[in-house]
Amino acid sequence: MHDSYQPIGVFDSGYGGLTVLSSIVEALPEYDYLYLGDNARTPYGSRSFETVYRYTLECVRYLFGQGCRLVIIACNTASAKALRTIQQHDLPLLDPTRRVLGVIRPTTEMVGTLSHTGHIGILATAGTVNSRSYPIEIARFSPSLQVFQQACPMWVPLVENHEFDGQGADYFVSKYLEELWKQSENIDLIVLACTHYPLLRDKINRYLGRPCTLLSQGPVTAASLVCYLRRHPDMAASCSREGRRDFCTTDSTAIFDHHAGIFFGLPVSSRHVSL
Ligand code: DGL
Repeated sequence: MHDSYQPIGVFDSGYGGLTVLSSIVEALPEYDYLYLGDNARTPYGSRSFETVYRYTLECVRYLFGQGCRLVIIACNTASAKALRTIQQHDLPLLDPTRRVLGVIRPTTEMVGTLSHTGHIGILATAGTVNSRSYPIEIARFSPSLQVFQQACPMWVPLVENHEFDGQGADYFVSKYLEELWKQSENIDLIVLACTHYPLLRDKINRYLGRPCTLLSQGPVTAASLVCYLRRHPDMAASCSREGRRDFCTTDSTAIFDHHAGIFFGLPVSSRHVSL
């Protein structure tokens, strides 16, 4: 057993990464986890590359400072816009023995195994869509797949305002799905490439209108982390295992705790941090 607190860090621009953390905790309950939501500066989805990179790096540094040797960026926008630079440029300077992983690679590695038509739909924030990270990464693993992207800028605000099962969501769910179908009628796999979208899953299923698999990233990221820790026993051994779950937010803890349970599936008690 570990004598020091070295949790696995999980970071998101706000609440959405809690859907990913929930799946990770289910798969690997024995580890300690420290979640950081940058709620004071959310959303990231509409921000520039430079800003998302700067914010994400600050959050990763904070988590490193708290003892995390492994950080999961559980945010598509930050994974798309900041992860590669942090891995290639910053990590060697900060501490080459630590690791930062994202949510895009685990997803893009496996989509090829799930589609029969070879037409994949990506639903994401405008930032993730504009980065073209999904088409680029998918082409690396499965060059024959055709990728169709649709930005859904109203979905995060709907979820954050607890309207994911309200009538307001129906309009924007059907609107963005129609836009996606206009690009290809043969899509048989849709990736929910934003941490908030699993909460809209029921509505999305209702408006799909055709047989199609919906892929949420929580279980995919969790399965990938299980494999990663198996392949890297030194990293696994360096992460402490007391079953602790700690939550930090850069904004109000009262507001965070009020919303976080919907995403995490359990009550959450957070502390405030300044970066
Ligand atoms: N967590 C972000 C993502 O997965 C969505 C929220 C935001 O725009 O900050 O893309």
